[in-house]
Amino acid sequence: MTLLIKNIKTLYQTEAGKAKKWAAGKAMAQLPSINKAYLLIKEDKIAAFGKMDNCPTETNTKVIDATGKMVLPTWCDSHTHLVFAGSREAEFEDRIKGLSYEAIAVKGGGILNSAKKLNETAEEQLLEDALKRCHEIIATGTGAVEIKSGYGLSEAGELKILRVIKKLKDLTPLTIKATFLGAHAIPSKYKNNRQAYIDLLTQQILPKIADEQLADYIDVFCETNYFTVAEMETILEAGAKYNLTPKVHVNQFTSIGGIQAAIKHKALSVDHLELLKAQDLDALKNVDTIATVLPSCSFFIKIPYAPARKIIDTGLPLALASDYNPGSTPSGNIPFVLSLACIQQKLLPEEAINAVTLNGAYAMGLEKQLGTIALGKKANIIITHKMSSLAYLPYAFGSSHIHYTILNGRVEQINTEYKSN
Ligand code: NIG
Ligand code: FE
Repeated sequence: MTLLIKNIKTLYQTEAGKAKKWAAGKAMAQLPSINKAYLLIKEDKIAAFGKMDNCPTETNTKVIDATGKMVLPTWCDSHTHLVFAGSREAEFEDRIKGLSYEAIAVKGGGILNSAKKLNETAEEQLLEDALKRCHEIIATGTGAVEIKSGYGLSEAGELKILRVIKKLKDLTPLTIKATFLGAHAIPSKYKNNRQAYIDLLTQQILPKIADEQLADYIDVFCETNYFTVAEMETILEAGAKYNLTPKVHVNQFTSIGGIQAAIKHKALSVDHLELLKAQDLDALKNVDTIATVLPSCSFFIKIPYAPARKIIDTGLPLALASDYNPGSTPSGNIPFVLSLACIQQKLLPEEAINAVTLNGAYAMGLEKQLGTIALGKKANIIITHKMSSLAYLPYAFGSSHIHYTILNGRVEQINTEYKSN
């Protein structure tokens, strides 16, 4: 099928010539664009784009008129936990009454609460719920998503989540990467024998995951009261034997050396970074590991925002992701993440958009296929509603500005316009 999008007000994140790995430092404020543009899609790929003056006049083509509208690549959400059971609004109320996120976890709530629910939930139900969340994020412009396990914390539970993620790859038009996060928390029954749980993960569960090819990446929640740096290293070494690249949770509450250790193990990304010391920032220079921050987690559990401005001003690349999960971020809404990044972390709209397109793609190993408007890349495209400028998108927070989400060259979602400027 051929699809022509014509009369585009501005086509953003265009790329010609050698494909970029990521946008770093000052370059993050650059979002290459073409005014009065067209975009031609053939089958599932970007076939041509440029000025309207050169717009092809093809027959047998479906045409979308994008007069007054912006076109850009769909979001690449490189950090989510969107396969989960039930919800945790009771903890939300506990926090309103004064308990902290950490205090709730220490008394058996938090991740362990979600793990209990997940182990009691059938795979079919998990799949049904996760499918709804996938369609929800498509509606807000996401085209690629990384999904972690980590709410099983048992062999059956972890494999159940990863099998659901594998099914989502077939049942949704999203491009999906799967991450094994068995080391998300120590289950209560292993409280006094942590090593036995780590052995279960590395010796029993990992070989099964490899056998069924259920994961692309391996993650550990490296944090005080969760997994130590040494434990993370053991787990990452075990994952490396099965070619699982690390993408890890570090520096959410404390700085204990997780970033340095993850870099040593060639992590693709280090995620959270709310508490970043000078030596942590230094460690991120001249490496292939990308810093990933999750502002809607800071918003929801009221913890400091990661110093995203400082990361960019140091010359580094930055990715933004949602962290969609039942405990710290019950939302996969990337436009809201963009607004928070601009408002709370002082990113320019262009920087924030680079962080969820090209850099988000890099953070899930997809920068050659997604993240920019380039010839031959997958046709994952957002068409906005009529908009005065691109900055309107993060500025008018909370409203939906996305008219069409096109995935693999097909229109997947059409939203009606309920607010315009
Ligand atoms: O990324 N911090 C660790 N894991 C999740 C939240 C887990 C939960 O509270 O369920 C996160 O924020
Ligand atoms: Fe997370």
